[in-house]
Amino acid sequence: MRPEVDCRLCGLCDGRTNMVLPDGDPSSGIVLVGEAPGENEDLEGRPFVGRSGKILDGMLEDAGMDRRSILITNTVKCRPPGNRDPTHEEMAACRPFLESELHDARLVVGLGKSACRDLMGFEGKMAEIVNIPTTIRIGDRDVPFIPTYHPAATIYNKVSRAELRRTIGIIAEDYL
Ligand code: URA
Repeated sequence: MRPEVDCRLCGLCDGRTNMVLPDGDPSSGIVLVGEAPGENEDLEGRPFVGRSGKILDGMLEDAGMDRRSILITNTVKCRPPGNRDPTHEEMAACRPFLESELHDARLVVGLGKSACRDLMGFEGKMAEIVNIPTTIRIGDRDVPFIPTYHPAATIYNKVSRAELRRTIGIIAEDYL
């Protein structure tokens, strides 16, 4: 299930250049969920192509993985103005599309607090839940879920960088 090309289900449509739909291999069953498209993603129409994407790609490569072999998506498909966090209402409007992307997943990884808020209903600090596996309810299934740091949160923070690397190591070792 995909949004209509002229989707107006929430106010984010007003500022978008391109809608940013999932990228990669849906048949892998491994889905990384980020927060929202940023400026570069809005311009290119692909998720994680800017600075955060370069960090993510580098970590995947270091673990012997290629971004094309998994699915990468976001809680919302359009860029929030000024890169603010997406609101609960915006995430709810986009949720049916995200649910359909997660429908056949074997593993979902939440990158950062917006993804964890949307998918787990978690409102606390990422440090409390990072890399603690849990499950989330998608349709009538409990799907394995790993909460972790957003790549942008790892730029100036060695601890979060090590944790995100650990998450990617878990994917490579246990789910490929
Ligand atoms: N940050 C995100 O959360 N998603 C993107 O697609 C790019 C940056």
